[in-house]
Amino acid sequence: MSTQDTHDHPLFARFWKLAAPGAMSGRDRDTLLGGLQGDIVEVGAGTGVNFAHYPVGVTRVVAVEPEPHLRAEAARHVAAAPVPVEVVDGTAESLPLADASCDGAVLSLVLCSVSDQAAALAELERVVRPDGELRFYEHVVAHRARPAAFQRLLDRSGVWPKLGAGCHVARDTSTALDASGFDVVEQRRFMSGLGPFALPHIAGVARRQSSTMATSATTA
Ligand SMILES: C[S@@+](CC[C@H](N)C(=O)[O-])C[C@H]1O[C@@H](n2cnc3c(N)ncnc32)[C@H](O)[C@@H]1O
Repeated sequence: MSTQDTHDHPLFARFWKLAAPGAMSGRDRDTLLGGLQGDIVEVGAGTGVNFAHYPVGVTRVVAVEPEPHLRAEAARHVAAAPVPVEVVDGTAESLPLADASCDGAVLSLVLCSVSDQAAALAELERVVRPDGELRFYEHVVAHRARPAAFQRLLDRSGVWPKLGAGCHVARDTSTALDASGFDVVEQRRFMSGLGPFALPHIAGVARRQSSTMATSATTA
């Protein structure tokens, strides 16, 4: 089934073409992707702004993007990549990839927007080989009660998710990662954004648990 019906956000796509370079610095994108090797799936690739930052040890990137205007823009950025990149339609919750077919996965500013974080992380667990890596960079809910309450209000109002094509600012992505089949092995927490628009972020590396595959093979 095409994802176009539920992920067609032309206004957001226009906005993100302008906003993506400022949403995350080039240095942060280099850090996010540095040292990756082998076959990688990038989920929610947006305009393809990460493509130029992949290190040469990467043999192939499958860039999954459900929004058609962003996907077209990402296809235009393939030429800027130092490694082979294929841009495909799909969602985090249903990746068009075989089990254990990737050495690593990349998420930048995506788990705020997926419809089901647990399902998205379970899909990544399925396609990333045991011991493979997940690199992430995400904005998250604040630790302090008042900013967190304001973030929840923004999400509940429906206005923010509508403007941001499904973006939620109050998600506890750190807890979702801890509950997934990945072990977070590196994580930094920091504020990013301008003045009153700064949000808490997490970025780091999680490793796919090697026992998960064995368990599902035993119970299958
Ligand atoms: C804020 S943009 C970030 C784009 C890009 N990763 C970046 O770093 O600039 C969020 C992206 O997630 C995508 N997205 C939203 N829901 C998704 C889903 N269920 N599965 C995969 N991608 C999704 C959007 O289409 C958009 O490209």
